Amino acid sequence: MAILKILHYPDERLCRAAKRVELVSEVTRKLVRDMAKTMYAAPGVGLAATQVDVHEQVAVIDVSEERNQLKVFINPEIIASSGEKECEEGCLSVPGIYEMVRRAEKITVRALDENGQSFTLEAEGFLAVCIQHEIDHLHGKVFVEYLSRLKQIRIRAKLKKRLRETM
Ligand code: NI
Repeated sequence: MAILKILHYPDERLCRAAKRVELVSEVTRKLVRDMAKTMYAAPGVGLAATQVDVHEQVAVIDVSEERNQLKVFINPEIIASSGEKECEEGCLSVPGIYEMVRRAEKITVRALDENGQSFTLEAEGFLAVCIQHEIDHLHGKVFVEYLSRLKQIRIRAKLKKRLRETM
């Protein structure tokens, strides 16, 4: 298993929309394993393939305290949603930035697992937030795009400054 390099906002590759996985193969499963390892090592609660510069609809999430309940979403689609809730979000691609984002409170998601089996999951609370956040990544959207233009400019400036300092 390999730890993959995570792209940082405002890298334009984060804006690419991922393609659907036509066949869940051993290659897909290796990607899932590497993404899980990368997420746990970061550490983070979710990671979309887009963030590691693979533009396929694959995401991994683990919101458990014990870090032992990996959820794999291939070709995820939100088929129902209700309510609204504001929650503080962060992102491995936007290090050190935490902002409030308004999203659906409850969702039903349909996806394939790492064996290519279709499943549906009803989620609420933090898990629902994470699923919506990761699906956004697969559509080329980073959570800061929900913020005001001024905030986005400030976040870009902050991350560029930090990047210069670490080079
Ligand atoms: Ni993210």
